[in-house]
Amino acid sequence: MKAIALDEFGDYDVMKLRELPDPLVPGESVRISVKAVGVNRVDSVIRAGDFNGYFPSHVPLIPGWDVAGVIDTVGVGVTRFEPGDEVMAYAQKDSLQFGTYAELVTVTEGIVARKPAALTFAQAGSLPLAGLTAWQALQAVAVGIGDVVLVHAASGGVGHLAVQLARTLGASRVIGTASIRNHDFLRSLGVEPVEYGPDLPSRLAELLGGDGRVDAVLDLMGGEALKQSFLLVRNPVRLVSVVDPAVKAQGGRFVFARPDGVGLGRLAELADLGRLWPEVTKELPLEQAVEAQRLVDDGHTRGKIVLIP
Ligand SMILES: NC(=O)c1ccc[n+]([C@@H]2O[C@H](COP(=O)([O-])OP(=O)(O)OC[C@H]3O[C@@H](n4cnc5c(N)ncnc54)[C@H](OP(=O)(O)O)[C@@H]3O)[C@@H](O)[C@H]2O)c1
Repeated sequence: MKAIALDEFGDYDVMKLRELPDPLVPGESVRISVKAVGVNRVDSVIRAGDFNGYFPSHVPLIPGWDVAGVIDTVGVGVTRFEPGDEVMAYAQKDSLQFGTYAELVTVTEGIVARKPAALTFAQAGSLPLAGLTAWQALQAVAVGIGDVVLVHAASGGVGHLAVQLARTLGASRVIGTASIRNHDFLRSLGVEPVEYGPDLPSRLAELLGGDGRVDAVLDLMGGEALKQSFLLVRNPVRLVSVVDPAVKAQGGRFVFARPDGVGLGRLAELADLGRLWPEVTKELPLEQAVEAQRLVDDGHTRGKIVLIP
């Protein structure tokens, strides 16, 4: 199969298009013929070698944790899927080597969900990691009926899904930070947009009235946004960061998204009901993985960028 792989960790150009052996299909695994790969910030972290202290890693290493495609082979122990099924998965594994920037990828059955019929393969490939991150972060701070929720970086990959899911969970108001060029996009998702920056607390106070604070905050930015968040949330136990684990020392929550086929199946149902709509800003051929990672790392992507093998 063709895949993007690296033999050493480093800058973007360590990634090369290669011919590598087709992956084997152990008992409880399915092999997916890849149709779309969501590109995530973590892909660059892995490429640079910055996750080597957390996960065992082996070269040649194929990056990528997001996939949508069609099952081409199932292991002997698989019960829920068969060849031809259209699926998606958040394909984080216990070690780093066999990622999704490839024509074929093998994943365990338990992390796979059916592709929503309402979504294209590109949308489905963009959904698992960002969607599950958003979902698990919202669960961590128990977002529910009547909550006023602030989502930082609301126009990004995780953010634009988090705001839609917060509405679905019953939040009465969802406020999202973004630059002005993304405010109409946020309004189209039912979000009240607000510019980020040092004036965020005063802007929010103006928007909200009262004590200028919200019930729950999703920090998808870290740094200044996280610092501000402690002032903007009524109780720090309802502040969750997916960026900075140090939030825990001050009473907040941290989420590192877990693969979860059942949770992903719920997101698929919401997509089929028209309540969750992944925005794919750009589709690039797999060969342009370097360009895709650069664009994502630039930090101003609206929605998601997807690679197509
Ligand atoms: N812990 C986990 O499991 C987990 C999982 C997924 C992601 N993450 C992390 O979560 C973060 C967000 O991921 P993502 O994929 O959503 O990123 P992303 O798609 O790259 O986010 C891009 C968005 O960030 C906005 N942005 C840029 N600077 C901002 C600022 N100062 N304040 C508010 N918004 C700003 C941009 O809006 P404008 O263009 O309008 O500026 C853009 O729409 C990343 O750090 C990522 O590594 C963690």
